[in-house]
Amino acid sequence: RTHKIAAIGADGIGPEVIRAGLTVLEALAARDGGFRMEVESFPWSSDYYLAHGHYIPEGGLERLKQFDAIFFGAVGSQQVPDHVSLWGLRLPIAQGFDQYANVRPARVLPGVKSPLQNGAGIDWVIIRENSEGEYAGNGGRAHRGLPIEVGTEVAVFTRAGVERIHRFAFELAMKRPRRQLTLVTKSNAQRFGMVMWDEIFYEVAKDYPALKTDRELVDAVTTRMVLKPQTLDVIVATNLHADILSDLAAALSGSLGIAPTANLNPERQFPSMFEPIHGSAFDITGKGIANPVATFWTASMMLEHLGEADAAARLMRAIEAVTASGLHTPDLGGTATTEDVTRAVCEHIRQH
Ligand code: NAI
Ligand code: MG
Repeated sequence: RTHKIAAIGADGIGPEVIRAGLTVLEALAARDGGFRMEVESFPWSSDYYLAHGHYIPEGGLERLKQFDAIFFGAVGSQQVPDHVSLWGLRLPIAQGFDQYANVRPARVLPGVKSPLQNGAGIDWVIIRENSEGEYAGNGGRAHRGLPIEVGTEVAVFTRAGVERIHRFAFELAMKRPRRQLTLVTKSNAQRFGMVMWDEIFYEVAKDYPALKTDRELVDAVTTRMVLKPQTLDVIVATNLHADILSDLAAALSGSLGIAPTANLNPERQFPSMFEPIHGSAFDITGKGIANPVATFWTASMMLEHLGEADAAARLMRAIEAVTASGLHTPDLGGTATTEDVTRAVCEHIRQH
């Protein structure tokens, strides 16, 4: 089997961790002999934007369509406003390829210290609606600079969009041992879209009688994540809410530097995109100390999606052996470099 992978490192530490991720993927392909990869790297980034006036050139999305998966670093630069870079590169791919299911696992890896005393109870998957809601891009500005200046940012929820993310969440929760799904909204203060979310959730729930469900308001669930992490399993939430909750989840699992994510087009009409949750981390760019573990875990999710379950599991075992050994980058309190961790993971893959 040959998998065609589009690599887009983009900005800051993005290219550093994607390079490390590709190294590990090559070690896996060499080890198993079961699959091959054809990787093409794309230079699309904020530097590219500053030179060419666009992140994705004419016909760029059409080219990406030819790939089986997209392996993405991070976009964001001090030279370009964040809303321009995000809407220039990451959102056109995620929305253009209808990657509506954003899957974000959170777990404290062996050898990693959670800031929570009961952090071992963290074993969650946050499902983020990734195509509409608060990030639908619906809004405007009026009377710029005047005393009555108005800015609107109107969330858009469609029945079809809500129903498909709930169904995805139920299916995923059914595959986990605890079979538990928590609905997160803010349907007390927000009376329309959020209430519709709740209603559709319970309609879909009728098809999954074996699954335990409960619900939380988004503010309340943050306290439950911190105080009773073991009581949560799968969480489904809107684009904005899940974005925020998953950064909290990443921090509670030890570092933003270990948290992975998959932007899935579950129907596989288009390629899905796999990326670490973190951004381009200006403060550590070029220092060679970015934690590559988030990207490795991301690569494991990509392999899983590509049907390489054995290689995906082998990679997770290698990651966990290395974190357990105490070889940590500075974000986890260690002194290892990106390269040290990458080399150790490759070595484990070769030997096990
Ligand atoms: P960030 O995730 O880049 O950094 C937050 C903090 O976490 C920094 O102290 C950073 O050094 C640390 N950190 C992040 N990843 C790390 C890693 N792999 N290893 C060690 N430490 C790590 O978030 P921030 O600072 O809010 O954003 C920086 C830029 O990244 C902005 O332009 C933002 O828009 C962009 N961004 C892009 C994302 C994406 O492409 N999906 C996601 C989040 C932010
Ligand atoms: Mg985020």
